[in-house]
Amino acid sequence: MEKFLVQGSGPLNGEIRIGGAKNSALKLMAASLLAEGSTSLNNVPEITDVAIMMELLEAMGVRVQRVGQRIEIDVPDEIEPVAPYSLVERMRASIVVLGPLLSRIGRAKVALPGGDDFGSRPIDMHLQGLEQLGAEFSYEHGDINGRADQLVGAEVFLEFPSVGATENLLMAAVLADGTTVIENAAREPEISDLANFLSKMGAVIEGIGTSRLTIEGVSALHPVSYEVIPDRIEAATYLAALGVCGGELRLIGARSDHMEMLLRKLEEMGMEWSEDEDGLTARVLERLQSVDVSTLPYPGLATDYKPFLVAALCVSQGAGMVTENIFAGRFRYIDELVRMGAEIRAEGRHAVVRGVKRLSGAPVRAHDIRAGAALVVAGLAADGETVISDAHHVDRGYEDLAGKLSSVGAQVTRI
Ligand code: EPU
Repeated sequence: MEKFLVQGSGPLNGEIRIGGAKNSALKLMAASLLAEGSTSLNNVPEITDVAIMMELLEAMGVRVQRVGQRIEIDVPDEIEPVAPYSLVERMRASIVVLGPLLSRIGRAKVALPGGDDFGSRPIDMHLQGLEQLGAEFSYEHGDINGRADQLVGAEVFLEFPSVGATENLLMAAVLADGTTVIENAAREPEISDLANFLSKMGAVIEGIGTSRLTIEGVSALHPVSYEVIPDRIEAATYLAALGVCGGELRLIGARSDHMEMLLRKLEEMGMEWSEDEDGLTARVLERLQSVDVSTLPYPGLATDYKPFLVAALCVSQGAGMVTENIFAGRFRYIDELVRMGAEIRAEGRHAVVRGVKRLSGAPVRAHDIRAGAALVVAGLAADGETVISDAHHVDRGYEDLAGKLSSVGAQVTRI
């Protein structure tokens, strides 16, 4: 069982290279199923979730090979359109193969993902949207069996701008007959990345980056070479670490236009930042000030940033009210922070965090990727030693978190 060992650390100084976005790379890999031939993806982080998606593609008969930060995906004419429970259980994002399989093969058997640490995570909007394009679903032994002789474009109004549902619909619509309009589409930068990738493959998509996507179906797509955008959530993790330790960090590759709301919040808390063509430079000279935080779909403050912001609020000056509007159950890490001396009172979707000067190192557990990374951030702001167990959750979304942080002066190791 791997653990992180974190010691309270002084100012951070130096450079960190931001890797490719997990939540984009996974979807581009699924989208590669839409075209026969060799797709090449650059800037793909070496993380567990990507390895699981590689296994999933391989299970369908696709050849996948990693060469450094690039992966080569060779899609044969015939693929086995099945996503087994053994893989879906390990990564619920596997559900995004449903759209591409239905549109290219007309069949898909995908295990139903269960709930997770954020609580129940339904996929009703994915299925209803696909049904509007003509897909039919039946359920058997924990699997969804989907069929569609030929998907036909339709107007789909999403009840909520779901990231996964928007992606599945987008990948289904590109090969459908006629025009699809997705209203109230999610607008996350990773969705624009997927839409840009699909466009490069020959898809016709209008409204990229807006909440109304119009897709003109085409008869076939071709494989391409493409570079994944930088991971804004990874960048946010290092900004939070800087926030609690002070110092100056240069985040190579980070893009401010993907994280405007976060940078505004951090500025309000006292962080200074600037940008040049290579990335962002951020500086913290004094203890941060508390602010209120409320998560919303993009361009609002991402729910994935919240655990790091809560970790930073734990040692900021004053009190902040945190509201979770995306995943009602995403507060589990708070009990771990309380073990470290944080003053947090949580009720339902809200938590009030009263800043203390220092936390106190303690043994804690990572329940998911972001919660684990937030505990590492908290450990940097704690006296003594913090041991975070279940480090494997963090590996799902971070390539060498400990190595990158220790390269800028943080005391973090893997044991
Ligand atoms: N929802 C439904 N029905 C659906 C789909 C979603 O009720 O059919 C609800 C969800 O339960 C949730 C809300 O809608 O309350 C938003 O869920 P969304 O579909 O937007 O999230 P997702 O696609 O399942 C992705 C990221 C998450 C990130 C969220 C929100 C990936 C692989 N995952 O999940 O990232 O938190 O969007 O931005 O892209 C992570 O990287 O650690 C992570 C959890």
